[in-house]
Amino acid sequence: MTRHRDHGAPAAGGRQEKAGEQVTIFDTTLRDGEQAPGFSMDHDQKMRMARALAELGVDVIEAGYPAASPGDFQAVEAIAREVEGVTVCGLARANEGDIRAVARAIAPAERQRIHVFIATSPVHRRDKLKMDRTTVLERAVAAVRQARELVAEVEFSAEDALRTEPEFLVEIFSAAIDAGARIVNVPDTVGYATPADIGRVFRFLREQVKGADKVVFSAHCHDDLGLAVCNSLAAVEAGARQVEVAMNGIGERAGNCALEELVMALKTRADFYGVSTGINTRRLYATSRLLASITGQPVPRNKAIVGDNAFAHESGIHQDGVLKNVETYEIMRPEDVGVPASSLVLGKHSGRHAFARRVTALGYSLEGEELDEAFRAFKNLADRKKLITNADIEGIILGREVKSPGPWSLQALQVAASSGEAKMSTAAVSLVHSDGRAVQASALASGPVEAVFAAIRSATGTDARLLDFSVRSIGAGSDAQGWADVHLAADGRTAHGSGVDTDIVAASAAAYLDALNRLLRGDELPSDSALAAPAGAMIG
Ligand code: KIV
Ligand code: ZN
Repeated sequence: MTRHRDHGAPAAGGRQEKAGEQVTIFDTTLRDGEQAPGFSMDHDQKMRMARALAELGVDVIEAGYPAASPGDFQAVEAIAREVEGVTVCGLARANEGDIRAVARAIAPAERQRIHVFIATSPVHRRDKLKMDRTTVLERAVAAVRQARELVAEVEFSAEDALRTEPEFLVEIFSAAIDAGARIVNVPDTVGYATPADIGRVFRFLREQVKGADKVVFSAHCHDDLGLAVCNSLAAVEAGARQVEVAMNGIGERAGNCALEELVMALKTRADFYGVSTGINTRRLYATSRLLASITGQPVPRNKAIVGDNAFAHESGIHQDGVLKNVETYEIMRPEDVGVPASSLVLGKHSGRHAFARRVTALGYSLEGEELDEAFRAFKNLADRKKLITNADIEGIILGREVKSPGPWSLQALQVAASSGEAKMSTAAVSLVHSDGRAVQASALASGPVEAVFAAIRSATGTDARLLDFSVRSIGAGSDAQGWADVHLAADGRTAHGSGVDTDIVAASAAAYLDALNRLLRGDELPSDSALAAPAGAMIG
């Protein structure tokens, strides 16, 4: 069998892998990703995601854009203070205020980086910046110099590089390196380039830019034509040694290069690319699911690497082949990305040890009280549901992650639904507030979920607007747990909440209350959230 893909081991088909240089994984889930419509995160959610990214083994976390808002500044600062083992980076336009804001926000980090950018393409210079080439060049140099006075590691990006005159790219990158940039990033901001373009540009720049041998070249590809991963791989082939990626490929418009796809392509085809990354690939699945649960944006079933179908073999011919030799249809082992090979179900007689082993196999790390609490939830679920699958266990773990800390909590919920001509449902809720108040209310509506939401509004005396609501099942079967997501808006602010329960109406109530609590606590999504308002001056 030649299925193992660790570096140095033979790959499928007997190809010999080359252990080579390491490619820096620069993660921009919390900056480029977070600014995309529907992917905004509040402070706690950003912290959870940053910790998960550090555990995954990314080298650099681009934690945000500190000059954008006080909320962004605080999140970058908290990540810099609390998340260990990574370089913490903040984004700045090429101006003094932005650069100073980043330097202050990342100051607590053990390793710090300022990422300065300015647009260089003709259309951006003329119509957005209203600057000529000379002014853009002067701004870039001044910004890099200023950033270098504040931190040792400065990255310079030429926004829309792939639509910029190549000779101007040579000029501006040479000047940025001379001013102290250590990483030069060549973004395909609008996802326009082909892999051949990318290869040509990176080779050309590495040959022509003065000081190219002293710096790291970086790729930042958007997915407008579905080419972000291919283009990033082409950049690596042409000598890029940093790739900017986001978990699940989230980011402006069609998104950024998907971290999990890029990393597994480099690992699975190490025989071709000859490079490695520091990513613990066994954590990919759990990190992807965490992001999906935090943002309420599910991973598509057929998504490469982390989708439900990524390792599912349905057709008879495929199943027959896999049973004879998994290599017939599998180029990666599911467990290499954190999907446990064992899909054996657990039940109410399974012990804490078996549960803990499955949690670990799924790529989550729970210990002490966290594990006890999850085990109690597992036992409760096993009382109601005969067979507990991996999906159920994930639901328990992610359900813990999304559990709302209040101020409101649900004590009791009663729903009566009727179908037919005069379709009406009633819901009665009892809620308690952390200040000790206990309230009850009931409501009548055309459906049970609508009635529950109305009863919660009436009990809490709130009137948030429902922006979005969805329920999906976790796992299969009519006794599967339901996962609900609710997005609410009030006073120009928005919040997202989730809930999980075997009863989908209860899951919906929990999700509504979670979103409402987040609005009331003030850890709402930033006001420039795309859910709150269409993006104005977003950065690709
Ligand atoms: O897409 C882009 O050009 C960016 C830069 C800020 C690097 O996100
Ligand atoms: Zn971008």
